[in-house]
Amino acid sequence: MRGREGGRPASARARGREKRPARPPTPTLSFPSHETGHYFAIDIGGTNFRVVYVSLDDSPGGVAAVEMRDTPIPDAAYICPAAGLFDMMARGLLDFGRDIGVLGEGEQPPTVGFCFSFPCDQTALDAGVLLKLTKRFQNEGAVGTDPVEQLRAAFARAGEPAAKVVALLNDSVGTLAGGRYTDPAVELGVILGTGTNAAYVETATSVPKLDAAAANSLRGGRVVVNTEWGGFADDSLPTLDADRELDAATPHAGEQLMEKQMSGMYLGEVARRLLVSLASSGVLFSGRVPKRLAEPGCVTTAHVARCDGDRSLALAATAAVLADALGATTTSYLDRRLVRRVCHLVALRSARLFATAVAALLRQIGRDASSGPPVAAAVDGGVFEHYALYRGYATAALVELLGRSAASRVRLNRVRDASSRGAAFLAAAADHAAQHAGAAPAPARELVAV
Ligand code: BGC
Repeated sequence: MRGREGGRPASARARGREKRPARPPTPTLSFPSHETGHYFAIDIGGTNFRVVYVSLDDSPGGVAAVEMRDTPIPDAAYICPAAGLFDMMARGLLDFGRDIGVLGEGEQPPTVGFCFSFPCDQTALDAGVLLKLTKRFQNEGAVGTDPVEQLRAAFARAGEPAAKVVALLNDSVGTLAGGRYTDPAVELGVILGTGTNAAYVETATSVPKLDAAAANSLRGGRVVVNTEWGGFADDSLPTLDADRELDAATPHAGEQLMEKQMSGMYLGEVARRLLVSLASSGVLFSGRVPKRLAEPGCVTTAHVARCDGDRSLALAATAAVLADALGATTTSYLDRRLVRRVCHLVALRSARLFATAVAALLRQIGRDASSGPPVAAAVDGGVFEHYALYRGYATAALVELLGRSAASRVRLNRVRDASSRGAAFLAAAADHAAQHAGAAPAPARELVAV
């Protein structure tokens, strides 16, 4: 896939790469395999902020206990200065740990994996620089700083300066690690929720960012690449007026253009804009634009899914959505059919982009053939989880792209909470590596760099 990453044209990126000095060997760690102990994770990047506690033992599968707490991110946290956002996370983890009785008087300070789902230039396992914020986040003072340092400072402000933040990772990487923990065929970790992204396992020597010495020094010779595919854009990616208008109205205009056609934060809004234009041109609602339809955000991805899945004779579910979301109580059957069609096309486009991007990654790693062992993508996120018809659309598109036989070897594993659990597992692996520095490496499933 050609394209633009981080809003920079491909040519600029290539120029940047030429100028960039060779990097020191990228930090490495094993995919978690045999670690034991108690670990926490903080997972932020969508609509909820999550804290996780994982206790690992050496039983088969290794997970003795997992506890989680989800908190909806308050509107103010999306726009407050960065310190406020990080304070919310540190305090949230400490409160949670105390509430479940594993932090506080006489307990060890927490060891934390930090799943921070934004584009970062990762410079060490526990360090990176935030390149940009995406989705609804607009926190001043975040871009250009190290999210791990910000979180450590927040723990100190919250009275827990000894908290150890040992791993920084993207949710796509966490999903890959978490998904692979239970299914070794997993080569891709994909997020399709508020935002979208994928990470995959790549041959180290194929990564231009790693110089040859760094690539060859990696045990197993493989690295995890966070593609940030939501940021791809290309002239061959057709856009509608609705896409361009939606983009212009977002806090990060000109960025994350594929994400804006694919992910849960935007599907409802694309549909709404298409409905406005059909109503204004007289094709829908007899040309009367329902008042509420003019309000951005009134059509959600859940509405799109309900209308698209409406198989009732009179399209009753679509009627209910139009009444609830738009206050449009007297719609004709033809109106409802058209609304359902719009919703279907918006979701189908997303699923076909999803399949195209998955197929491109499989091709990149040579796993798109009709023979060989099966390969799996671990897929997490609300759209994949809750949109009943989505998987069917994506699978059909994969068959179209790869052929029936190759597509039948590709499993799309729906996984839940993998990024949060993955963050805790990677914290365990990082902590284990730090404690055994210099010792012979434990047998590991894979060596990765992030
Ligand atoms: C971010 C990615 C993230 C994805 C899913 C995108 O907006 O750029 O880093 O993985 O959302 O959360």
